[in-house]
Amino acid sequence: MLPIGPYTLRNRWILAPMAGVSEMPFRVLAFQMGAALCPTELVSAQGLMRLSARTMRYLRHDSAVEQPYSLQIFGGEPEVMAKAAVVAKEQGAQIIDINMGCPVKKVTKTGAGSGLMCDPPRAGELVRLIREATGLPVTAKIRAGWDHANKNFLQMADVLGAAGVKALAIHPRTRAQGYSGQADWSCITALKAHVGSAFPVIGNGDVKTVADAHRMLETTGCDYVMIGRGALGNPWLFRQLGGGEGPSPEERCRVVMDHFQKHVEFVLRDFRPRRPEEATPEGLKRHAESTAVHTFHKHLGWYAHGLVHASVFRAEVNKLETVSDVLDACERFFHQAQLDARAAEEEYDVDYRQALG
Ligand SMILES: Cc1cc2nc3c(=O)[nH]c(=O)nc-3n(C[C@H](O)[C@H](O)[C@H](O)COP(=O)(O)O)c2cc1C
Repeated sequence: MLPIGPYTLRNRWILAPMAGVSEMPFRVLAFQMGAALCPTELVSAQGLMRLSARTMRYLRHDSAVEQPYSLQIFGGEPEVMAKAAVVAKEQGAQIIDINMGCPVKKVTKTGAGSGLMCDPPRAGELVRLIREATGLPVTAKIRAGWDHANKNFLQMADVLGAAGVKALAIHPRTRAQGYSGQADWSCITALKAHVGSAFPVIGNGDVKTVADAHRMLETTGCDYVMIGRGALGNPWLFRQLGGGEGPSPEERCRVVMDHFQKHVEFVLRDFRPRRPEEATPEGLKRHAESTAVHTFHKHLGWYAHGLVHASVFRAEVNKLETVSDVLDACERFFHQAQLDARAAEEEYDVDYRQALG
């Protein structure tokens, strides 16, 4: 298995960076389930330079679990990105990942994210300057190209390779495609064939199951597989990739409650008053809790996916504001899911011998 710079990863499975999802509690959970690398969501280079409270929250990580700690940054100006990467290193980053795939207009219009696919020399300059300024391994995440007529991922690989990139992740859709259609895995195959063993290729896109992940490895020859949406509500996928079991209903219940509590601690830790109604300790607590609850709704929806009465549960938690109410609702719902699973199993376990007398 090709290492990423000085880091030999424990397996080939990587959690994709996902804004609003890949925060410390979810990254730690994915690591504990067996993921070998969990880069942060994209963090603004400008924000890093200012070290705003919001950016500091993105930088929080658990160095006992997150090894190596890869921080993804975005920005369009090489000098600013290099300075930001130095700050990232001071904050503990061990790998700097550069976002060259974000399709959001606010990002691309500044020449950042997938905007860099339109300017390979500048993308190469970013890698070189960050590498020289920090001495850290620099990785990048690209798309297939800007649009169908400009699929320049092989040219990007040449330029970034020459600049010293230590791994390249590819999400093989164009910027114009956004998330529509299917990821074109033939681009991953072509990329791996093109770069050989110069640096590892990380394949990404539409991996939802253990079988998908193995199929991507086998059909494309990529070195690592990066999984995004397939891990939402299903961090156990990483354990299953290592040959382990899916969750029992009891474990699902425990992990969801634990993830929620870690998320609450994460949000509450540096919550600062911003509105007049937050000036009192009770007002602050109320608003901090409701922020933690609201930012966890999406996870609860994903965890409940496929279970009986999931839509009723989603509608119920969407109306809740306090941590204890959500914990109660989770306990009721996921506990009931346990009972339903057991009843279904018992129904299945008909002992025919009884009928035979
Ligand atoms: C909610 C969400 C947020 C994302 N945020 C980021 C991000 O911060 N940085 C990044 O490089 N890609 C981001 N992506 C793209 C994913 O990393 C990944 O490339 C894409 O989802 C395709 O992989 P998948 O089919 O396994 O989900 C995001 C995707 C989703 C769904």
